[in-house]
Amino acid sequence: MSTLLVTGIGELVCWGDRPILQDAAFVVEAGRIAWVGPRAQQPQADEMLDAGGRAVIPGFVDSHSHLVFAGDRSAEFAARMTGEPYSAGGIATTVAATRSATDEQLTANVARLVAEMARQGTTTVEIKSGYGLTVHDEYRSLAIAKQFTQETTFLGAHVVPPEFAGDPSAYVELVTGSMLDECAPHARWIDVFCEEGAFDVAAARQILNAGVTRGLKPRIHANQLGHGPGVRLACELGAAAADHCTYLDDADIDALSQTGVVAGLLPGVEFSTRSPYPDARRLLDAGVTVALATDCNPGSSYTSSMPLCIALAVREMGMSPAEALWSATAGGAKSLQRDDIGRLSVGARADFALLDAPSHVHLAYRPGVPLIAGTWKDGHQVV
Ligand code: NIG
Ligand code: FE
Repeated sequence: MSTLLVTGIGELVCWGDRPILQDAAFVVEAGRIAWVGPRAQQPQADEMLDAGGRAVIPGFVDSHSHLVFAGDRSAEFAARMTGEPYSAGGIATTVAATRSATDEQLTANVARLVAEMARQGTTTVEIKSGYGLTVHDEYRSLAIAKQFTQETTFLGAHVVPPEFAGDPSAYVELVTGSMLDECAPHARWIDVFCEEGAFDVAAARQILNAGVTRGLKPRIHANQLGHGPGVRLACELGAAAADHCTYLDDADIDALSQTGVVAGLLPGVEFSTRSPYPDARRLLDAGVTVALATDCNPGSSYTSSMPLCIALAVREMGMSPAEALWSATAGGAKSLQRDDIGRLSVGARADFALLDAPSHVHLAYRPGVPLIAGTWKDGHQVV
C-alpha cells in the first residue's frame, strides 16, 4: 500500500486538538489520514507533495444542494434584482423543465455542477430530488444523484405540483405512499420545504415521520421566507439539520442549542434573493452548531461556491474566518452526521484542498478569487 506525504504546509487546518498548525505535514495511507504533525518530525513515505508554504484545508462539505434539474431561471433573477420578491412559486418552472428532460440531460447537468464544486474545493455534496414531483421523476432524480454522492435526499415535498393544486392532501398522500416506496431505497435523508406556499407544519410532520418509518433520516427547509414552525418541528423530531434559519426567535434558538440540531445557513439564497442574511453570530453565541452550504439550485441560489458562502458569512453574518471555514467543513459533516469528513485528523478521509494562499483567512479576504490550487478526495487528486 503506497503512502503519500504532504509537506511544506504553511498552515494546515485540521480541526484536531490543535485546530490549525503552522509548518505542518501529514501522511495519507489507504485514502485516510495516517499521521499529522510538525514538518520537522515528518516520517518517510513512498510519494511526496510539497505545498510550498501554502495552506491546506479539509475539503468543503456542502450539506445542501438541489443539482438534479433542467432549465434556467435567469430572467426571474434579473426581475428580482429590479424589485420583484422571491416566492416558492418559481419552483414550478424548474419542475416543468426537469420533467421534460432526459436522464442523460439531467445526469450531465449534475456532473457539470459536481465538477464545478470540486474546482472550488468541495469534496462531499448532499443532493436532493424535488424538481420531479411525480413518482417516476423523483425516483429517477435520486437514481441520478446516487451516481455522484451517498448523501441523497428525497424532497418529494418541495412544493405541491400544479396538477394537485386543487387537492394538496392527495399529494401528501402520494409523497408518503407510493412515491416514498419508490424513492426510499435511493435516499439516505428525507426533507420537506416547511413554509407558506409549500407545506404546513402538520403535513411536514406527517411526511418526515413517514420517511423515518422507512429508515430515512429527517432534515428540513425551515424559516426561510418568514418566521414559521419549521425549526421547532426539526427540534421536536430530532432532525439532523434545520436549513435556512433566516427568521428565528429566541425560543427557536434555545431549541436548536438544547437539541443539537444543526442550523444550516445558506447565504447564497439571501444574496440571490436580495434578502436579509441570517444572524450567524447570534446562533454561535447561543452554542448552536452552524453549517454553511450553497443550496445550489436554479431559483434561489445558483452558486456552487463554498468560498463565496464563506466570504458572505464573514462579511455579512458576523462569523470569523475560522468559524466560517469550520462551518463549511466540520459543520457540514455534522449536518450530514458524518465523522469521517470535514477534518484532517488521524483516521479521517484524505479529502482536502490546497489553497493558492498562505492561510485560510484569504478565503474571505480575497472574495471572488479562484484560490483552490488542487482538490483531493480519498487521497486522490481530482482537480
Ligand atoms: O432551498 N426553499 C426551497 N427550495 C429551494 C429553492 C428552490 C427554487 O427556487 O427552485 C431553496 O431555496
Ligand atoms: Fe434548498
